[in-house]
Amino acid sequence: MEKKNIDWGSLGFGYIKTDYRYVANYKNGAWDEGGLTTDDMVTISECAGVLQYAQTVFEGLKAYTTEDGRIVTFRPDLNGERLENSARRLEIPVFPKERFVDAVVEVVKANSAFVPPYGSGASLYLRPYLFGTDPVIGVKPATEYQFRILTTPVGPYFKGGIKPLTLRVCDFDRAAPRGTGHIKAGLNYAMSLHAIVDAHNQGYDENMYLDAATRTKVEETGGANFLFVTKDGKVVTPKSDSILPSITRRSLIYVAQHYLGLEAEEREITLEEVKDFAECGLCGTAAVISPVGKIVDHGKEICFPSGMTDMGPITKKLYETLTGIQSGRIEAPEGWIKEIC
Ligand code: PLP
Ligand code: COI
Repeated sequence: MEKKNIDWGSLGFGYIKTDYRYVANYKNGAWDEGGLTTDDMVTISECAGVLQYAQTVFEGLKAYTTEDGRIVTFRPDLNGERLENSARRLEIPVFPKERFVDAVVEVVKANSAFVPPYGSGASLYLRPYLFGTDPVIGVKPATEYQFRILTTPVGPYFKGGIKPLTLRVCDFDRAAPRGTGHIKAGLNYAMSLHAIVDAHNQGYDENMYLDAATRTKVEETGGANFLFVTKDGKVVTPKSDSILPSITRRSLIYVAQHYLGLEAEEREITLEEVKDFAECGLCGTAAVISPVGKIVDHGKEICFPSGMTDMGPITKKLYETLTGIQSGRIEAPEGWIKEIC
């Protein structure tokens, strides 16, 4: 398939309309058979559940071209499983994970001309989402829903590629204990918009959110989990019931232990101990692993020894191994790579 005429190397993280998207509709208690469409417009009631009460959940994953020219996705079954969990929490009917994976395959195959070539540093981002479409005015779940997957070719999430980021400790909270921080609901992102605009206005790249109950423990940023490396080379990531269970982070813990022979641990991490770490990174589908050079806590600077010009050495090894697995240069653990074509 001939590729589209796109300058792949200069793509940022933005929306470019591709040829096909996947759509399925839920009505009278059942999902229809779904399929591809070229229509990028959504027409719904002015009173739709998604518009009135933000009844929507979503996912994010990528398709890559491997070194030997295959198109693959990374652990889409885990995105399907997480979307099921997100849907249950917002009283949205589950779109079954097996159908999710089939839809991913179908939509990537149809848009294969938009999958960036190997070595370009870009990938095809997939955004699956579910939303309530029929009218609700009393506070209650919709009865009709749509599931869509749109795709868009993307480059790095943070401008400047892998230049270390500067974060601030945020005074706003992202998620409450027993709230919705652990699911991928649009509402979590809506309420982070003011905090991120304010952070950017103050010259910071991202916010470090703390736990809302005590404001002493590290949670995550608006769109990625944290990963730290201790001075003796151990990988540690925050454990919390109110952060998104990142598929990238779970994969990196495995990579650290089984590919790099490092100790890796998920545990509560206090803000107080952050100054003692050697390296820090943000991990996620969009962020991949983006190094953090500095965190500012109300004027007090925490500068990581890895500095402001490059990734720390262990972060770099993790990055190279993960991206090597995703692009077929390094053999993947069983079941991690779903081949599309
Ligand atoms: N945390 C938040 C709030 C996110 O939006 C994301 C992105 O999906 C992540 C973490 C990383 O999750 P994953 O690695 O599954 O993409
Ligand atoms: C992703 O990494 O897929 C996300 O959904 C995060 C978002 C900030 C783009």
